[in-house]
Amino acid sequence: MTRALLSLLPVIALAACDGGSDTRSAAGDASSPATSSTADGTSPTASRDTAAILAELGGDYVNADLTNGARQFRRCQSCHTLSDGGRHTVGPNLHGIIGAPAAGADRFSYSSQLAEAGLVWDLDTLDAWIANPRALVPGNRMSFVGLRDADDRRDVIAHIAVETAGD
Ligand code: HEC
Repeated sequence: MTRALLSLLPVIALAACDGGSDTRSAAGDASSPATSSTADGTSPTASRDTAAILAELGGDYVNADLTNGARQFRRCQSCHTLSDGGRHTVGPNLHGIIGAPAAGADRFSYSSQLAEAGLVWDLDTLDAWIANPRALVPGNRMSFVGLRDADDRRDVIAHIAVETAGD
């Protein structure tokens, strides 16, 4: 998979792998590497990493409901895989999509509308796309009506971020 993990993902990756050199500033207290003292009683590994990833996303993403995110993502799964190196199906594989330029996956035949839109999938752009793909990029080929509920969109984006950072 050659899609570059741009802007956001290296930060997420740092959060997911313990012991990255620490250049992070805000929200940084979730990061004390390796030594897992979880005063709040959560399980030491996965949940700490997940919390760090959500903290890096910032804003309301810290409140994301990942169970709902996984449930919402089932609607995407009819057309998208998310695993690293997953197949393109009706739509392109979405591994590493956050922070990536639109229409950047190898060997997927995008619409010219999406290819020429000049978008980068930062969190706000992704949110707008999932809310109403047709409004963001008229004429694109993703036939999905959109998720109306802002919390559902937040949760599904958080799910994508966590799944992508988890390997
Ligand atoms: C009915 C099939 C279908 C469903 C359902 C669907 N998508 Fe898509 N998606 C596509 C297709 C097809 C494209 C490529 C669009 C184009 O080239 O115009 C796409 C493109 C995308 C892209 C841009 C990928 C890139 O490489 O730039 C993202 C992000 C995306 N979809 C996310 C989602 C999410 C999140 C969901 C669920 C909330 C979802 N999609 C549901 C078919 C689907």
